[in-house]
Amino acid sequence: MNKYKNNRVAEVLDHLHEDAKKDYMRVGKGIVKSIFRPLQPKDFAHAYLPISKNQGEALKQLIIQNDSKYVVEFGTSFGISTIYLADAVKQTGGKVISTELIKSKADIAIQNIEKAGLDPFVEIRVGDAMQTLQGDHQAIDFLFLDGWKDLYLPLFKMLEPYFHAGTLIYADNMDMAGTKIYGDYILAKKNQYSSKFVHGGKAMLTGLAA
Ligand SMILES: C[S@@+](CC[C@H](N)C(=O)[O-])C[C@H]1O[C@@H](n2cnc3c(N)ncnc32)[C@H](O)[C@@H]1O
Repeated sequence: MNKYKNNRVAEVLDHLHEDAKKDYMRVGKGIVKSIFRPLQPKDFAHAYLPISKNQGEALKQLIIQNDSKYVVEFGTSFGISTIYLADAVKQTGGKVISTELIKSKADIAIQNIEKAGLDPFVEIRVGDAMQTLQGDHQAIDFLFLDGWKDLYLPLFKMLEPYFHAGTLIYADNMDMAGTKIYGDYILAKKNQYSSKFVHGGKAMLTGLAA
């Protein structure tokens, strides 16, 4: 018997998480190059660098519980996290805007999202998030930050005018040095934002202070 009982989303996610596990060798080669020069986005052109299944499920539940409809993602990669986000907005009646710098990754993400049957709920914008998300004047219900760390804070500041009382901001990789400047900025604004670390400190969830 098919263990997924026709659950296309679970089937596609299982396959992608498995494929991502095989990815570490390719990522490793990129890191070896960094001994000779700083790492660049193209060194990760073949790397998934995805959130875990637990994080994906938690993101999905957060969006559903918060009834978030307009969800913005920074860093699509091959679409693993986008599929969790899209599966959630399918239930809330919303949509996901996700952006990816590398076109070849965005193209594969679109195929993966189609395989999961979630393409009606997703718009992928190819290019630098600081451009592709600029001038997006719709109120943001949920922001997921998972691209290069030096852009978390500039992107947050650019999108801040579109936050409202119910907006949630989920930033991944808060245990990495590159995100410290973002964490310090948010945590210092206690009268404006309320934050907590989740997933053992790997991510930070922020809402507007009451
Ligand atoms: C950690 S991966 C995202 C993983 C994905 N969220 C997941 O969980 O499946 C980060 C991605 O952000 C992309 N990225 C980096 N800088 C970017 C930028 N300025 N604009 C758009 N995407 C960017 C990278 O190319 C990379 O694919």
